[in-house]
Formats: sequence, C-alpha cells, structure tokens
Amino acid sequence: MNVYTSSYLKSILNSKGMESRLEDADYIIINTCAVREKVKQKIISYLGKVDKIKKEDAKLIVIGCLSEVEKEEINKKFKPYLVGLFDKESDLENIGKLIEGDVYKTKIGSVSRYLPVIFGCDHFCSYCIVPFARGREKSKNLEDIIKEAEEIYDEGAKEIILLGQNVNDYGKDLKIDDGFMVLLKEVSKTPFQRISFLTSHPKNFKLKWISEFKDIPNLLQFFHLPVQSGSNKVLSLMRRGYTKEIYFEIINKIREEFPFASVTTDILVGFPGEDESDFLETVDLIKKIEFDRSFVFIYSKRPLTKGYQYEDEVPHSEKLRRINYLIKIQDDITLKRYGEYIGKEVDVLIENIKGGSGIGKEKGGRVVIVEDVTDDDIGKIVKVEIDRVNIRELFGKKC
Ligand code: 5AD
Ligand code: SF4
Repeated sequence: MNVYTSSYLKSILNSKGMESRLEDADYIIINTCAVREKVKQKIISYLGKVDKIKKEDAKLIVIGCLSEVEKEEINKKFKPYLVGLFDKESDLENIGKLIEGDVYKTKIGSVSRYLPVIFGCDHFCSYCIVPFARGREKSKNLEDIIKEAEEIYDEGAKEIILLGQNVNDYGKDLKIDDGFMVLLKEVSKTPFQRISFLTSHPKNFKLKWISEFKDIPNLLQFFHLPVQSGSNKVLSLMRRGYTKEIYFEIINKIREEFPFASVTTDILVGFPGEDESDFLETVDLIKKIEFDRSFVFIYSKRPLTKGYQYEDEVPHSEKLRRINYLIKIQDDITLKRYGEYIGKEVDVLIENIKGGSGIGKEKGGRVVIVEDVTDDDIGKIVKVEIDRVNIRELFGKKC
C-alpha cells in the first residue's frame, strides 16, 4: 500500500520538478510504516537526520501508519508541516494542492501497477497495529475501480494488482454479496494480460472461489495467504479466526485446481504463549505445505493492540532461534520447488530491465530474471528456459 501511495504522489507532484538532495528540497515527504517496533525506531532516527540536514524553512510532511499512531510524538519532536495517514487518492491530491496549488496526474509507465480497492481493516488480530492506524474497512465503488483500471491500462500497464489489507473483504461495507468475486469478475473483463490481488485472509477466503478462479483466464496463479502460526492455540490467541485445519483445506484446494500456482505466506514467531510444541506445529505446517516462499517475522509488541497486555513473553534469544530455524527450512523448500523449474519453459511478462537483465514474473507470480531481453520485450510475454534458481528468483534465457 505504501509503495502505491508513494508512486501516486510522484505521479501528481511533478509540475515543478523534484530535488534529488534532501538539503535542497522545499518540501520533504516521508511515507512511514508502524508494523514492527524496529521500523518505528528506524523512522524516528531517520526523521531526526532529515531534520538536521534540511533547509531551515523546508516543510516536512510525514504520512503513513506511523504518522497516524505516533502523531503526538512526531509533532513534538519534529514539528512537521503535515502529519497523518493520507492513504486515499483524494488525501494525496490534497497534499499535492498544498504544495503546488494545482495537481494533474502524469502517466506512470510501469508494466505492473497496483490499484487499491479497499482501505483499512476490521479484524483486530491481537498483534497488529494496522486497524488502529488505518481505521475501518472502506471499499471503493466498483464503477470507480473499473474506470481507474481502464485508465491504468490506457497508460500502458499489462498487469494489475488489486490491493487491500484484506482484499477478500471487498464490498462488505457496500453490502455487495460476494463482493470480492464480483469485483474480480468485473476487472477480468478489462484487457489486462494479468490480474492479481493482495493480501488475502484465510478467514475470508471462500473455498468455492477457488473453482471460480478457473473462469478467469488472466488471473495470476499467485496466492499470498498469511498463516502466521501452525498452532491452533496460538492462532486463537492471535484472534485470527481460522484453524490450521481450515488453512490446510484452502491450500489443498488451491493446489488441486492450480498445480503450478505459487503459494506464499507470512509467519510470526515468538508470539506470547508460543511454546516449543506450538512452534513445532508451525515447522510441521511449513514442511507439509511446502510454500514457495515464506516471510518470517519476529513478533514485536505494538501499542494499542490486545497482545500488548499478554504476558508469557518468549525471550528474544529464543525468538531468534525460531526465526533462523524457519528461514533455513523455507530456503531449502524454496530451492527444491524452484529447482523443479530448471530445464523447463515458462511464460514471463517482462516488467523492466535492470543491469542488462529483464525482470518479470511467470504465470504463478514467481520472479524470473531473463538474459538477452531488449527494450522491445518490455510489456510482452516471452518464453524463457530456466537454467538456475536461488531462494528469491528463477533465472533463464529467452527461448
Ligand atoms: N510484529 C511482527 N510482525 C508483525 N506483523 C504484523 N504485526 C506484527 C508485529 N506486531 C507481520 C504479520 C503480517 C505482516 C505484514 O507483518 O506477519 O502478515
Ligand atoms: Fe493486521 Fe490482522 Fe488486519 Fe491483517 S487482518 S491488517 S494482520 S489486523
């Protein structure tokens, strides 16, 4: 979501050019995150650095989650010109107007583009600060989304990624029955070569949708479904609203319908109350499911959340042991799964070229680095033979 808000700001803040050095800027906009304590510390120290080197009359604008939940602290320490969430396009346009008087949107040339469809979160998982920072769920109107999608297509994009903290909740607040599926079907009528969505919640991911996805030929076969833990006890403490059995059922159905899909997840280690047997259940889940990739995080206590009051904290050294153990297991699984692609041909939508190599994704959303591509290939689907892999990417040559 932050990547989107920053790129949207860039697209409307260009009529007067931008400075590349902080020292020369009249306005400095910093987009922040609050999901973990470490990130907060980094931002506060970065703000301190900016405050020291900026021109005396330069105006500081701090947006994103941290600026909403730590407004007071930021106001006190840095006296910004503006501080707050600013997640909707209209909020960002207001910032643009403050700076430039008038704003107009310029073309974003990317092949793959994000489009937020729902803001906020109603779930209140006990570890998570997001609902406090971003407020309650608010879906955009379907007609507006389709109009925006068409504009994005006209700007040259080939892939659209529908965004939401809980994208599967789309339309609930608008009382649209099965809103997420209605949205997906409508968006699939636009001419994008690829459509994807992020992030799903296992609690709201309906099994019946998985068969319906098959009717959407341009759907990227990529499913990011954060599981967080493999222990029902911990899932319940986290207030996730599903059991590991339900999670297995979803993944089995996805793999049955889409054998080449990539399935990725987020995992939290060291949540209060997570003992060795709970941890081993997470290990077991990872081994059984064989995710394509897992993003593992050490639990960090966040203000305002229910978990803040939980006792029975896991010592930091133990959290470290657990995260390292999981990362190692996942790396081996990724190498094994990705390794199965060596010698195979995949269709890659080339998004851009960096350091002489093309970067794109195959139809399961796995990132592929491709040799021998030219500017002409950008935005096209090319056939690539995979010759090596690492824990992040597949590598190959154009066939
Ligand atoms: N501590 C550590 N990780 C967290 N996440 C969310 N809240 C916390 C927290 N308090 C992780 C979750 C989520 C991902 C985006 O960040 O795994 O899925
Ligand atoms: Fe946070 Fe849970 Fe909402 Fe995701 S669903 S944003 S983890 S509260």
